[in-house]
Amino acid sequence: MKSSDVVIEITDLVKRFGDQTVLDGVNMEVHQGEVVVVMGGSGCGKSTLLRHMVGSLQPNAGSVHILGQDLSLLDESQLNEVRKQFGILFQSGALFNSMSVADNVALILEEHTSLDGSIIEMMVKIKLELVGLREAADKFPSQISGGMKKRAGLARALALDPKILFYDEPSAGLDPVTSASIDRLMIDLTQKLGVASVVVTHEMDSAFTIADRMVMLHQGRVLMNDTRQAFEKLRDHPLERLDELDESKRLIRQFLRGDAEGPMTESNAVEGAYAADLLGVDNSKLTGGRSIQTTRVVRNMDRPGLIRRLFGRRGAKHS
Ligand SMILES: Nc1ncnc2c1ncn2[C@@H]1O[C@H](COP(=O)(O)OP(=O)(O)OP(=O)(O)O)[C@@H](O)[C@H]1O
Ligand SMILES: [Mg+2]
Repeated sequence: MKSSDVVIEITDLVKRFGDQTVLDGVNMEVHQGEVVVVMGGSGCGKSTLLRHMVGSLQPNAGSVHILGQDLSLLDESQLNEVRKQFGILFQSGALFNSMSVADNVALILEEHTSLDGSIIEMMVKIKLELVGLREAADKFPSQISGGMKKRAGLARALALDPKILFYDEPSAGLDPVTSASIDRLMIDLTQKLGVASVVVTHEMDSAFTIADRMVMLHQGRVLMNDTRQAFEKLRDHPLERLDELDESKRLIRQFLRGDAEGPMTESNAVEGAYAADLLGVDNSKLTGGRSIQTTRVVRNMDRPGLIRRLFGRRGAKHS
């Protein structure tokens, strides 16, 4: 580890699935007490990166150090010890439906500690109070709203007093007000508990509210890793001075603003290929030599993935 407050250090991380290289030399660090937001278009490898951080995927090359330990050198039980210091918030909250909110939180403490029942009960109350859910302790997941489920998931993620919290799309599917309250909660928790948080999100409002630092992934690499202020400056860079920005900065600006036009959509435009494919003809015949531009709208490109394969098991009890 380079400095003592680095809690996550990712070095030259490469991940391939078959012949698809999803992560192509990713470097980044997360420091204690900071919120780092990871962004990028759909399918660019954000969840894959997160899964390496929690040790549910092994890299093809490079390394992931968490709290000073190289995850690839750990056996299952050592890995699970490290994981006790994580809190992971699944997209849906991933609560057990047959248990009350309180029991969902208690379960983690029962599984991982040898604390007395009455102490556990007290700890559960503290965690539920932290996320503003003490009143709903006895309700079942089916009886609470989506936002409350997220809070319950968060209370459970906090059960073991984690040093690092991982969130994948914490505000997906929530209304703007609930989503803003989850943002507020994430900031509060980071400040109150001094935990580090890694957040994958598509919601730019949310990203700019919670982030201390932001990391933009593109084509398997880190395109920009900087403070929120630097990203804000880029987002607000005036259109008439666009030529001051290089290609990658323009691409990031487009992403941050959610603009339909720009280098991001241009590089994704497949010239006439779709029409040609559909009609089963050679593209040049179809267009008489000219090409057809099919431009995709960036808002569609960066929609949340259909399948979240987060935190597949590599032996973790509850991951
Ligand atoms: N277990 C796997 N096996 C094969 N391919 C995978 C696997 N996991 C992810 N991929 C592929 O890796 C790429 C990146 O996926 P990932 O889920 O990390 O994207 P993402 O950035 O999180 O996207 P989204 O914003 O849509 O959630 C995709 O092309 C996906 O199909
Ligand atoms: Mg994802």
